Amino acid sequence: MKKIISLVLAALMVTSAFAAPKGKVAVKVGVSMPTKDLQRWNQDGANMKKSLEKQGYKVDLQYANNDVNTQVNQLENMISTGCKVLVIASIDGSALKNVLAQAKAKKIPVIAYDRLIMNSDAVTYYATFDNWKVGVFQGQYLEEKLNLKNRTKNDPVYMELFTGDPGDNNINFFFGGAMEVLEPYIKSGVIVVKSKQTAKAQCATLNWSTEEAQKRMENLISAQGYGPNKNRLDAVYSSNDSCAAGITNALVNAGYTADNFPLVTGQDCDITSTKNMIKGIQAMSVFKDTRTLAAKVVEMVDAICKGTNPPINDKKTYNNGTGIIPSFLCEPVYADKSNYKKLLIDSGYYTAKQLQ
Ligand code: BGC
Repeated sequence: MKKIISLVLAALMVTSAFAAPKGKVAVKVGVSMPTKDLQRWNQDGANMKKSLEKQGYKVDLQYANNDVNTQVNQLENMISTGCKVLVIASIDGSALKNVLAQAKAKKIPVIAYDRLIMNSDAVTYYATFDNWKVGVFQGQYLEEKLNLKNRTKNDPVYMELFTGDPGDNNINFFFGGAMEVLEPYIKSGVIVVKSKQTAKAQCATLNWSTEEAQKRMENLISAQGYGPNKNRLDAVYSSNDSCAAGITNALVNAGYTADNFPLVTGQDCDITSTKNMIKGIQAMSVFKDTRTLAAKVVEMVDAICKGTNPPINDKKTYNNGTGIIPSFLCEPVYADKSNYKKLLIDSGYYTAKQLQ
């Protein structure tokens, strides 16, 4: 009985610490983003800050310059300066175990934002997009446009493969989803990857860096002799837009034009990539409306603080090594030249001018 009473008291104390009555100090939320270098995280960080502030929260927003130690230091600082909830898009999903143990000791709930944080039992919820579906969209796009179902190994297509940072758990889903579609064709010889670099680790791109992707594509072009009037290259599978931008640069430098451009996939509808789609030098992308993701995470923060039920629609997919993390998956949407206006401009995500 004593135990029950003290548990109830503790719960009441937590709830009252979170609920910031009017006129009292607002609850502070720490938002930790990986980098300002990639367009998407600037948008995510800004959205989160704006939406949380609108709900009356105070926000400590930090970008970690893609440096794990910086992110750890920033989190330590958030924990010691009174943040009551942490929202984290990790750089290396496996590198936060120790710092998050400090959060857990202080009963600070942690929401993994977009990227799952691995091997830490301090993670309370996860909010992201259906990342497997992103990979499947990309794979199915190539399957359809390259007519793979009707080809044989005597009439193959030539392709190279790129995915993102090896420390980002999301690549298992993007690359995994795409390979679920493409791998049977690679096995049967309908898709030829001349470099033979088909393992995830061989296709990884450190920090999802445009420059790294460009360098690897340039090396592939020279090693395999790809070029408009040289060895055939029909497509490059890329897990996202920051890599697609580097791949596209290398292909443009090798002499490809919109008339003969290999099909390059992507995701995020970054401005550079959307412009490239309009020009015909990137084939498709996947739109992940980060406004929706931010809105869901704000709902999660709110539910945590008010002691109500957060939005959760997946309780089976995301095991971070310590168990399943209750998640909310937003819906990704296929994007290309034919629907970008409706998706991106009409919805107010970008202005028409930004895409000129
Ligand atoms: C995100 C992608 C993004 C990539 C690089 C991934 O974790 O899910 O949307 O393109 O990181 O920033």
